[in-house]
Amino acid sequence: MNALVTGASSGIGKAIAEELAKKKINLFLVARRQAELDEIKVSLESRYGIKVFVKTFDLSTEANCFALFEACKNDQLEIVINNAGFGCIGLFENIELDTELKMLRLNIMSVHILTKLFVRSMKQGVILNVASMAGFIPTPNMAAYAASKAYVYNFSEAINYELKRTKKKVRVLSLCPGPVNTNFANVAGAKTEFKGMSAEKCARIAVRGIERHRHHIIPGLGMKLTKFFVRFLPLGIILPMAFMIQSKKDEIS
Ligand SMILES: NC(=O)c1ccc[n+]([C@@H]2O[C@H](COP(=O)([O-])OP(=O)(O)OC[C@H]3O[C@@H](n4cnc5c(N)ncnc54)[C@H](OP(=O)(O)O)[C@@H]3O)[C@@H](O)[C@H]2O)c1
Repeated sequence: MNALVTGASSGIGKAIAEELAKKKINLFLVARRQAELDEIKVSLESRYGIKVFVKTFDLSTEANCFALFEACKNDQLEIVINNAGFGCIGLFENIELDTELKMLRLNIMSVHILTKLFVRSMKQGVILNVASMAGFIPTPNMAAYAASKAYVYNFSEAINYELKRTKKKVRVLSLCPGPVNTNFANVAGAKTEFKGMSAEKCARIAVRGIERHRHHIIPGLGMKLTKFFVRFLPLGIILPMAFMIQSKKDEIS
């Protein structure tokens, strides 16, 4: 079996690649940093006896999303993990528009294009789109990021339903983690460290969720409960709570 993982050079993507490698799945790994990908390739090939191909792409451009598809469309992929993404913390008014647009192109456009191309080309298999708990909650101080993940979650649920109705053997799932200890907070510009789940645990739950045919995967009981209760709370309570939590990340500890 062959799988593609985007954003595989660190964090959740790297950990998912390791989980898939343990299951003897050959990998096509993508990110921008060649050296990190090469190191992961050597490590996974030597420990698990699988084949790992690496390719550097900046997926925030439309052309590179198509180029990635061209590069691996003949590999008979049965698992596609659209994981590459980043966030930016701060007041909407203050975040650079260029940074936000790059984020929206990566978090939404690249996931959209790759899902479209693989849904059309795959005969059977799974596309796992990495969303976030933030996608369930309007999030002041991280407004555009949370909204981008709401897109990923809603889009994946709806397409998965369509595919079920049309009896296509392709599933489109979403992974919706809460905080995970990766480079994410650093890239997002958080000034305070927040402890979350390990990337390895998140990846184990993600791969188990794929095997158990979940349509969305929420790692951790705390996050499942948050998702459950958030629907009963009025926005008048949710917005100040979300603002307080996100603002703490923006404060120097
Ligand atoms: N950590 C959390 O708390 C958390 C919670 C919920 C959801 N998520 C989501 O989980 C996913 C993975 O994030 P992470 O936490 O593992 O953070 P991370 O450690 O920063 O990993 C992000 C990955 O995406 C790649 N990437 C970034 N920009 C890219 C681009 N333009 N083109 C191609 N690849 C790119 C990075 O590699 P290069 O820099 O080498 O390109 C890296 O491999 C993201 O979609 C994020 O939104 C994270």
